Amino acid sequence: MERRKIRLQKLIAATGLASRRKAEQLIVSGRVTVNGQVVTALGTTADPTRDHIKVDGKHLKAAQPFVYLMLNKPKYVMSTMDDPGGRPTVKDLIRGVSIRVFPVGRLDFDSEGLLLLTNDGNVAQTLLHPRYGVAKTYLVKVKGMLTDEDIRLLEQGVRLDDGMTAPAQVKKVGKAEQNSWLEVTIREGRKHQVKRMLLAVGHPVIRLKRIRMGPLSLGRLEPGSFRFLTDREANALRELVRKRIRVVEPEATEKARSKGAVQVIR
Ligand code: URA
Repeated sequence: MERRKIRLQKLIAATGLASRRKAEQLIVSGRVTVNGQVVTALGTTADPTRDHIKVDGKHLKAAQPFVYLMLNKPKYVMSTMDDPGGRPTVKDLIRGVSIRVFPVGRLDFDSEGLLLLTNDGNVAQTLLHPRYGVAKTYLVKVKGMLTDEDIRLLEQGVRLDDGMTAPAQVKKVGKAEQNSWLEVTIREGRKHQVKRMLLAVGHPVIRLKRIRMGPLSLGRLEPGSFRFLTDREANALRELVRKRIRVVEPEATEKARSKGAVQVIR
């Protein structure tokens, strides 16, 4: 029978013992053995059906099934599972979920909206890596009235201190006396990116809520509530992984695809 060799960090993460990154730290710090030998090299693979893998001297448990849940993160909650500063975290909002999940990307402490939590590392990587250009859409309230020129600049790409942004899509969805409401879609995920982009064109963000991420929509989920994804939604995420598209021209995925300017990674 063919041996199924899988990277150790992936095997450890699949059991729910640690995230992939933490599993890498366990390996590097010499806490993992394969067939009695300490392994510290990150590329090491093993076959879970034949090899004896131990962490801190204990056998790895069986892999857990994948779970996917969507949370409407309220303002003033950390989008991490723990906070050294003692602030509320998303972990407090998903009590009762017995399988260990981790948040896919971050929302700022004062941002709200759609946060996916899962134990599926491939889905997380596909949604987050700029190479795959998955769209994230935010409903944004900014100070002042956005002009057509501001929108043109944002759609073209603006210079931030960490370089030019990829072009965004910006749609005005309402206006108040002294503020504008926008829908902003980006395909990257740099720190505070939407806030920094809008500040770069002179409009500080007052409120920011993620409403879509790839095939997922927040819909009417109440702030602070979560739900498990439907089979259809989970399948749509897995389909993204299956057909990972490297966007060569992230500003125009559809246009690029029709011109053959995207590359499918198998
Ligand atoms: N961009 C931001 O500036 N903040 C977020 O929380 C998400 C995207």
